[in-house]
Formats: sequence, structure tokens, C-alpha cells
Amino acid sequence: MPATWPLTTERLALRPVEPDDFDAIWSYRSRPDVRRWLGGSLDRDEVRQRFLEPEDRRTLLVVLHEGDVVGDLMLIVQDAWSQREAVEQARASVGLLGWAMHPDAGGRGLATEAVRELVRHAFDDVGVRRVVAECFADNEPSWRLMERIGMRREAHHVLDSMHRDLGWQDEYVYALLAEERR
Ligand SMILES: CC(C)(COP(=O)(O)OP(=O)(O)OC[C@H]1O[C@@H](n2cnc3c(N)ncnc32)[C@H](O)[C@@H]1OP(=O)(O)O)[C@@H](O)C(=O)NCCC(=O)NCCS
Repeated sequence: MPATWPLTTERLALRPVEPDDFDAIWSYRSRPDVRRWLGGSLDRDEVRQRFLEPEDRRTLLVVLHEGDVVGDLMLIVQDAWSQREAVEQARASVGLLGWAMHPDAGGRGLATEAVRELVRHAFDDVGVRRVVAECFADNEPSWRLMERIGMRREAHHVLDSMHRDLGWQDEYVYALLAEERR
């Protein structure tokens, strides 16, 4: 069923990103404590360009609290791996999730509330059957968030991911199936 925007929760509204959101997004994404764990460019203009690309605008949502942008969420719909004869059944069945929140909005469960709604949206509105998220193993706030919303740690990759400052790092992969939702 198509989503009705904005999506709302008790304290938050979620809607697709718009070009005018960029300054608010950059105010936290440019902070060392936020970008420490994020991939992608550190260059303002490159990041701005990304947020203006129609392709990316379809995959990025902003999180609003009391009218202000306090974070952003990613939902990229992908095909699951399949044998050749089953490609159609596997199409658009996986939602790859991501998130970044302003630290000023941290520690109150707002990210948890936003990601819980993102997962609901992925299952109910978009129709994926499985959601997946990855993080550096040392990014404890991120994997604790995944565990709070009921995602399962499915993989621990050892020293497989290169961090710009820390070198090779472990990575966790978390997932949840639609039928496993609480
Ligand atoms: C990952 C990130 C979103 C987590 O933020 P967070 O503030 O820890 O998450 P929440 O907003 O859900 O808050 C959780 C905290 O609020 C507390 N809390 C208070 N009220 C709560 C409620 N109603 N519901 C849930 N938690 C609540 C929790 O106990 C928890 O506290 P704790 O960390 O002391 O255990 C944030 O650290 C971030 O943006 N990091 C930088 C970007 C990043 O790493 N992105 C992911 C890359 S993989």
C-alpha cells in the first residue's frame, strides 16, 4: 500500500528529503562524532549533490521533531540473491536501512522511534520481506539501536571493512523478517 506522507509516530514525522533540508542535515552530518561512522564523502558540495539527486531523494527520508530536522534515514530496496529461475520472486524483496541523527536529539529514543517506523514502512508500504542493516562493530549505539527494535545479528565479518581513520575493522550485519516483527 503506498505511503501517506508524512509518516507520523508519537513524537516524530518522517518524509522524503527535499533540497531545502540540506543545511539542517549538514549541521549534524559534518560533525566529527557523527561522520566518524558514516560512509560517503566528507565534502559539503559532494554531499549536497547527493541529497539533490532525484535517485537519492527517493531513498532518503528526514526525521522531524517539533518541526525541526533531527535526522535522516535511508531505505534502499534491493533484489535478494536468487537462482536464475527464481529472479522474479526475489525482486525488490530486501530493504537496506541506514540512519544518522543529530546528537542533540540523542539519548531519548527518537532514533529508535524513527527506525521502528522506517521498518514498518519498509514492510507495510513498500512490501519488502526482509530488512538489513550493517555497521562497524565498534559503532555500539547503532547496533544497540538495531537490537532495541528486534533485529538479529546475522553476521560478524572479521576485519573486512576499511575505516578512514581506524584501518581494517569488524562489521556486523543485522536483519529482520516481516513475520518476525513484534
Ligand atoms: C546510531 C544513532 C542514531 C543512535 O542514537 P541514540 O541516541 O543512541 O538512539 P536513540 O535516540 O534511540 O536513544 C537511545 C537511548 O535513549 C534511551 N531512551 C530514552 N527513552 C527512550 C525510549 N522511549 N525508547 C527507546 N530508548 C529510549 C535509551 O535507553 C538509550 O539510552 P542509552 O544509550 O543510554 O542506552 C546515533 O548514535 C547516530 O546518529 N550516530 C552517528 C551516525 C551513525 O553511526 N549512523 C549509523 C551508521 S551504521
